[in-house]
Amino acid sequence: MTTQRTLSIIKPDATRRNLTGAINNTIEKAGLKIVAQKRMHLTEEQAKQFYAVHKERPFYNDLVQFMISGPVVVQVLEANDAVTKYRDVMGATNPANAAEGTIRKQFAESIEANSVHGSDSAENAAKEVSFFFSEIEIAA
Ligand code: RTP
Ligand code: MG
Repeated sequence: MTTQRTLSIIKPDATRRNLTGAINNTIEKAGLKIVAQKRMHLTEEQAKQFYAVHKERPFYNDLVQFMISGPVVVQVLEANDAVTKYRDVMGATNPANAAEGTIRKQFAESIEANSVHGSDSAENAAKEVSFFFSEIEIAA
């Protein structure tokens, strides 16, 4: 497997509790390299566009409102097999089901306020990285 990139978002529940460094520590300890990062407050339009894949899901409106409730930190992570590796480090969507040591087990408040987002496929990772970053903002 060659080096791959994935998109991570540290969500508003985590920035509100000042957990960016603690989450980054878990990310780096797992062997993922943070090759781009910026803090931003998403507009409703941006959040709706980013989560458009979920627009038919019952939790879509709540999710959009949650994602604009405070600042987020968007990041590009790089590693061999980065998409799967980061999903493993994140843990299950519902923190009640997340494995010991995962970000969501350590930090998530609920199934919605679950501290981090990670791309779910290589194809979506490429789309999500280019949604937030241009190539000149990424330095490996
Ligand atoms: P993510 O996209 O944020 O990495 O999370 P995921 O793949 O583990 O979960 P996904 O099914 O893609 O859901 C996206 C986000 O929507 C919120 N959610 N709320 N209230 C609910 O039942 C519910 N289910 C999902 C979570 O913030 C989830 O991460
Ligand atoms: Mg998802």
